[in-house]
Amino acid sequence: MLIISPSVLAADFSRLGEELQKVEAAGAQYIHLDVMDGVFVPNISFGIPVIEGLRKHSGAVFDVHLMITEPLRYIDAFAKAGADLITIHYESCDDPWKVVRYIKEKGLKAAVAIKPATPADVLYEHLGELDMALVMTVEPGFGGQKLISEALHKARALREYADKNGLCLDIQADGGITADNLADVIGAGVNVIVAGSSIFRAEDPSAVIAQMKAMAD
Ligand code: DX5
Ligand code: ZN
Repeated sequence: MLIISPSVLAADFSRLGEELQKVEAAGAQYIHLDVMDGVFVPNISFGIPVIEGLRKHSGAVFDVHLMITEPLRYIDAFAKAGADLITIHYESCDDPWKVVRYIKEKGLKAAVAIKPATPADVLYEHLGELDMALVMTVEPGFGGQKLISEALHKARALREYADKNGLCLDIQADGGITADNLADVIGAGVNVIVAGSSIFRAEDPSAVIAQMKAMAD
């Protein structure tokens, strides 16, 4: 089953609680929370207090995408704020696997993201330790960009590797996903999609979610 994780980066920040309720009522199972530190990526978004505040308004899985350097320093704080799944970037520290183990020790799900220029095989050796791999389909930092279709080859390679090795792995794609390119994304073996602009900037976000779910079925 396709899991839809709307990215609140594209939502109306003055009424985030209502925005979340709207997409959850439409069937979104996850909420994607993009945390940017202005160092790992050239943009600053929001952090721990916002997630903590939203937790009271939502029963969805909080899918926290950390675009920050040295994420180990903040895992405790994001866990306490209400994260269910934490994704760190492979490129963000020297030992991402140490951070993955720490996230799992906290009882949370762990994922590692790779930027468009990072090959998929950096994840192979420890893939069995991950709940999810995130293939970035845009350069991280900004919503509203166009999907880089070459990145989908990496999702396909990861799906093949996981299947061959009997691993139960979620594969998420993030960036530029719309109803128009969803078939290609799912066809590459992705089962968790992030969508910001195509959902929150639509006239009727619920209709877009319904359309995406119907396409996946
Ligand atoms: C980009 C973020 C994405 C972004 C997706 O760095 O990781 O989650 O919000 O937004 P859209 O769907 O608009 O590309
Ligand atoms: Zn993201």
